[in-house]
Amino acid sequence: MTHKRILLIIGGGIAAYKCLELIRRARERGIAVRCVMTTAAGQFVTPLSVAALSNDRVFRDLFDLNEEREIGHIRLSREADLVVVAPASADLLAKMAGGHADDLATAVLMATDKPVLVAPAMNPRMWQHPATRRNLALLRGDGVHFVGPNSGEMAERGEAGPGRMAEPHEILAAAEAMLGGSGLVERPLAGKRVVVTSGPTHEPIDPVRYIANRSSGKQGHAIAAAAARAGADVVLVSGPVGLPDPAGVAVVHVESARDMLDRVKAALPADIAIFAAAVADWRVASEATEKIKKAGGTAAPTLELVENPDILRSIAKSPRKERPGLVIGFAAETQNVIEHARAKLQSKGCDWIVANDVSPQTGIMGGDMNRVHLITAAGAESWPQMSKEAVAGELIARIGRQVAGQRPPARAK
Ligand SMILES: Cc1cc2nc3c(=O)[nH]c(=O)nc-3n(C[C@H](O)[C@H](O)[C@H](O)COP(=O)(O)O)c2cc1C
Repeated sequence: MTHKRILLIIGGGIAAYKCLELIRRARERGIAVRCVMTTAAGQFVTPLSVAALSNDRVFRDLFDLNEEREIGHIRLSREADLVVVAPASADLLAKMAGGHADDLATAVLMATDKPVLVAPAMNPRMWQHPATRRNLALLRGDGVHFVGPNSGEMAERGEAGPGRMAEPHEILAAAEAMLGGSGLVERPLAGKRVVVTSGPTHEPIDPVRYIANRSSGKQGHAIAAAAARAGADVVLVSGPVGLPDPAGVAVVHVESARDMLDRVKAALPADIAIFAAAVADWRVASEATEKIKKAGGTAAPTLELVENPDILRSIAKSPRKERPGLVIGFAAETQNVIEHARAKLQSKGCDWIVANDVSPQTGIMGGDMNRVHLITAAGAESWPQMSKEAVAGELIARIGRQVAGQRPPARAK
């Protein structure tokens, strides 16, 4: 097996610091990273840090005689399997869209014959500017791939909105999907179809109001991305979330529990189903067709709730020839986590339950870390606290071993 190679072009934006983490994570996964920095990028991160983390020299100058003699910008552009631009500033996007080649980064981008993945990062107004919208449309038309940006707080105080660069793990997941799998790992789920649900559901009260929960979708999306990296054909049925669609995954966006069940059924048959969504247990019995008005002097309306369909149960208990071979549910509990999860395994008829404690003090719901217990017929295992990506990776590795017919090795409690 050989290492996959990324050529990382670092543009001039505050988010350049996240590239250091991206380089580190990519190398941990067996991907070699060679870096080109624009002149402006050097204002945000030092070439020394980039060189140290990539364990390679950093290329910066188109007209550097030594650089050109040693490798040359054409070879630099062709030696990688994938070119990643992160952060892509508004200026760099404009140069790419216009076909400029007046510095090393843009000359490399013009000369490459490899796929290009771009992670934009800029102030929301720059992102929404008509010039940026035009440049994006041109670049998309040229076959350039994008990851992010996300919405959220900007480095500038008081600024929020779309424009935050995707997180390093999201860029890496997109890169790995484009590379056809991670650096050195085989693809244990190649040829398998996997359905994953993620996020909350929104249950309408009237045309403008709904009942929701605090699920962010981070865990479910990470699982879908990990399954795709493992070679599976993945359908992600996602409730409303503020996350970008994971690369290499077919994403179906839904709102309510009933939509989610319909779209899960439509995605079957599948070999594996993983239900990570926080599906609302109840919905309003009769959704108002017009906005419920607040009229002075009248009592507040009473909401009558009815039970939503149980997606996990209905798929786990479906007839044998329709049922996915491995059905995994999630249990979000706030007390007696393992005990409740064991009961859920029984009552839902699924094969595994991944249980976590979502009490507010754990910070798990909506956060980046998770601490889960895997409940199977063989017993309960408590995994240490890990990032949601690491939980996803471990779960997919387990599934890979299960699918291959191997007994999962015991893990330290
Ligand atoms: C403190 C500071 C932060 C900046 N952050 C960004 C940014 O996040 N995104 C962006 O598009 N431009 C940003 N700029 C402007 C770019 O650095 C500038 O347009 C530069 O020419 C881009 O260079 P590049 O084409 O090499 O990326 C920032 C400028 C400064 C002074």
